[in-house]
Amino acid sequence: MSNLKLVTHSANRRRNSAQQSGSWRNPGTFTAGRDLGAGKTCLTQGIAYGLDIHEYTLSPSFVIMRELHGRLPLYHMDFYPSDNVAEISDLGLDDYLSAKRGV
Ligand SMILES: Nc1ncnc2c1ncn2[C@@H]1O[C@H](COP(=O)(O)OP(=O)(O)OP(=O)(O)O)[C@@H](O)[C@H]1O
Ligand SMILES: [Mg+2]
Repeated sequence: MSNLKLVTHSANRRRNSAQQSGSWRNPGTFTAGRDLGAGKTCLTQGIAYGLDIHEYTLSPSFVIMRELHGRLPLYHMDFYPSDNVAEISDLGLDDYLSAKRGV
């Protein structure tokens, strides 16, 4: 696992730098963000562009996961308002993603 710290000073710069990271992403890459209003949606919009996804990427609040298709599929998950790890584990997302990967 490796960490990348991304510091940007505007929403568009964040989208642009995320677009570059999306263009070299490999299957299975996982990106997490936690703080409210930290720019998670802008980051995801940029990654989506980098993956050649041209659907508009909205925050999936109140929808647990959106699946978008481009060069690679993008699974955009938002567990807000749950911070209960057991509840999130019970959703079966591991099984869903494993089935998508064919494992
Ligand atoms: N790097 C940045 N610098 C300054 N402002 C930014 C940056 N990234 C995003 N913003 C602005 O901050 C606000 C929140 O961004 P965004 O919606 O992407 O955050 P979020 O983490 O998805 O929020 P939420 O937790 O509500 O879903 C927006 O108005 C966006 O334009
Ligand atoms: Mg958001």
